[in-house]
Amino acid sequence: MLLIVFIFLDTFGEKLMPVYLVVGGFFGDEGKGSVVGFLALRDKVDICVRGGVGPNAGHTVNYMGQTYKLRQIPSGFIYEKCKLLIGPGVLVNPDVLFEEIEKYHVDPRRIGIDKNAGVIEKEHINREKESSHLKKKIGSTLTGCGQANADRALRILRIAREVERLRQFITDVPEEIWSAIDNNKKILVEGTQGTFLSLYHGFYPYVTSKDVTAGTLCGDVGIGPKDVDEVILVFKVYVTRVGAGPLPGELPEDEIKRRGWEEYGTVTGRLRRAAPFNYELARRAIRLNSASQIAITKLDVIFPKDKGKKSWDELSREAKEFILELERNLGVPITIIRTGPDVYDAIDRRK
Ligand code: GTP
Ligand code: IMP
Ligand code: MG
Repeated sequence: MLLIVFIFLDTFGEKLMPVYLVVGGFFGDEGKGSVVGFLALRDKVDICVRGGVGPNAGHTVNYMGQTYKLRQIPSGFIYEKCKLLIGPGVLVNPDVLFEEIEKYHVDPRRIGIDKNAGVIEKEHINREKESSHLKKKIGSTLTGCGQANADRALRILRIAREVERLRQFITDVPEEIWSAIDNNKKILVEGTQGTFLSLYHGFYPYVTSKDVTAGTLCGDVGIGPKDVDEVILVFKVYVTRVGAGPLPGELPEDEIKRRGWEEYGTVTGRLRRAAPFNYELARRAIRLNSASQIAITKLDVIFPKDKGKKSWDELSREAKEFILELERNLGVPITIIRTGPDVYDAIDRRK
């Protein structure tokens, strides 16, 4: 009888494979790249698709002794069987894309770029470098994203289907995702930046050039909110920020170093500003993204003896209490806990 029920569910529409969104909960650099890389390998995802702004983002993934720094290719690429897509809402810099393909020996046949994705040209980067507003006041990454999005709003930006160099990659990303959903495939949608760098929800004007919360991430890749099964919001155990703008509870540089919280930007190499974990921002990020799960990164930075732990039972009492306290205060299950730089230094508490 039970078997018949299972066969029925399998055959008639009950969806078995999830669509996951991964979004940043603070100011970017929460470690989304490592979380996406881990999920891609662990769940053997079929598609990893990049939403978000564009190559202003830097994601770092450590896998099999190699460090991959990615600005354009989705972080799930370390799982060799997954397709790597870039959605229509995302900006592409062909130079950065080809550089990553070559450097990391990515099979170009795995990559698909939506025909409507915006294209960053040299002039966008030059315009940003010349802007003291972006350079000095905002602390922009000067990767051309803001200027390209401005041109897109004016409808003068070139899009991927118009660019010869991108021809081999051009596809209809929404169609590919819908077809995968209909065939019960696993899809991981990778966001960039973090909730409080959102053009709408951040500390304007100290923000990036578009909204980067879960709602917009759906639009970036061409799915509606009802296609999403889980929204994983990523928080680091402390908060970092690069560039200008408010950072509540910001610590002085010597204190950041004393605590071992110093980090340098993946794209710009700048020392990141830092502050302790912020509950007020975290709760707001949970609502803004309708988070259904939380991933916590860098637990080992505050509990060094827990470095590299891969199961809940192995964690020290203090670390467990810390996580349970966070979970109680935030009211959302903490399902992924990262304990070290390697992609597999993670605890998976998903049901
Ligand atoms: P996103 O922009 O959110 O993807 O984060 P990021 O990749 O920009 O973060 P960053 O460049 O700071 O890279 C994170 C670094 O920390 C990478 O080398 C990761 O492998 C490493 N890392 C990720 N999670 C952990 C963790 O839990 N503990 C430690 N010690 N390192 C981690
Ligand atoms: P822009 O998007 O390059 O114009 O930068 C605008 C602001 O967002 C600056 O403060 C940048 O430092 C910040 N920013 C943009 N992308 C990232 C990112 O991926 N991680 C962290 N900060 C970012
Ligand atoms: Mg980053």
